[in-house]
Amino acid sequence: MKLSGKTVVLTGAGSGIGRALAHQIARGGGRVFGCDIRSEGLDETRELLPPELRNSFVPRMLDVTDREAIVTLRDGLDEPVDCLVNCAGIIQPFVRFADLDDDAMERVFNVNWFGTLHMIRAFLPGLLERSEAQLVNVGSMSSIAPLPGQAIYGASKAAIKLLTETLYAEYLASNLQVTLVLPGAVATNISQNSGLKMPERKTGDNRPRDVAGAEDAARTIFAAIEAGEYRVLVDKMVIEVEALYRRDPQAAIETMARNFGGLLGD
Ligand SMILES: NC(=O)c1ccc[n+]([C@@H]2O[C@H](COP(=O)([O-])OP(=O)(O)OC[C@H]3O[C@@H](n4cnc5c(N)ncnc54)[C@H](O)[C@@H]3O)[C@@H](O)[C@H]2O)c1
Repeated sequence: MKLSGKTVVLTGAGSGIGRALAHQIARGGGRVFGCDIRSEGLDETRELLPPELRNSFVPRMLDVTDREAIVTLRDGLDEPVDCLVNCAGIIQPFVRFADLDDDAMERVFNVNWFGTLHMIRAFLPGLLERSEAQLVNVGSMSSIAPLPGQAIYGASKAAIKLLTETLYAEYLASNLQVTLVLPGAVATNISQNSGLKMPERKTGDNRPRDVAGAEDAARTIFAAIEAGEYRVLVDKMVIEVEALYRRDPQAAIETMARNFGGLLGD
């Protein structure tokens, strides 16, 4: 769906991929209600736009785990929403499953899974009333193959992938285009924004890492949304992991363990 003149609600707009995507949409002529739990991040997203585009970005502080706040935000919007992008997300501490405390586990699932779910449940009825509409959910390479030390993050992202696939199936013959976005490795402040320090890599390989920039990722995602694509592999790393997983899932898991096991720091 072409986003020029369209109204978009975008979570995670205060940093990284969400911020860069908000900028793309504003540059493309869309109007973005940018939601994030960090108001300073939202202010920065707006400030970083050229002055003539700043009115195209409306910051809305929102915790996506707060279902009532989502409904209040939705009911307070003075225009119908054409597109919902669920991009807000956090990672977990890089520890083995047994070492993850209950609070961290619940926090990750509440933001990534229930946050996405609450947003969709609040906005889907309105989207279905538009002549054309789009729902975009951001999963991860971890929706496809596991990253050691991110069991719960991966499970939350795999759940998003399956939910998105099901919604795609359920709304195939409707006005609603459903898009699943799968980033691999994109340089953002997700660790810091998740309240973590990244561990030193003590084992695993030392190969140069193919990490995309948030702007490049956003360009790919924006083009895919406008082209009405169903599934977006955002960068080189996720393309490689997907190819390997399709060929041999067990080999893919073992490769992930070898390449990323060092993130566990032991
Ligand atoms: N960066 C990567 O390599 C990568 C890889 C795969 C998937 N992803 C996914 O892409 C999405 C964006 O990640 P990013 O790398 O740009 O991270 P980021 O930290 O730069 O941006 C995420 C934003 O979500 C916001 N957020 C966190 N909890 C929230 C809440 N409860 N309510 C509202 N907003 C909240 C944060 O404040 C932050 O501004 C996430 O869903 C992430 O899982 C990122």
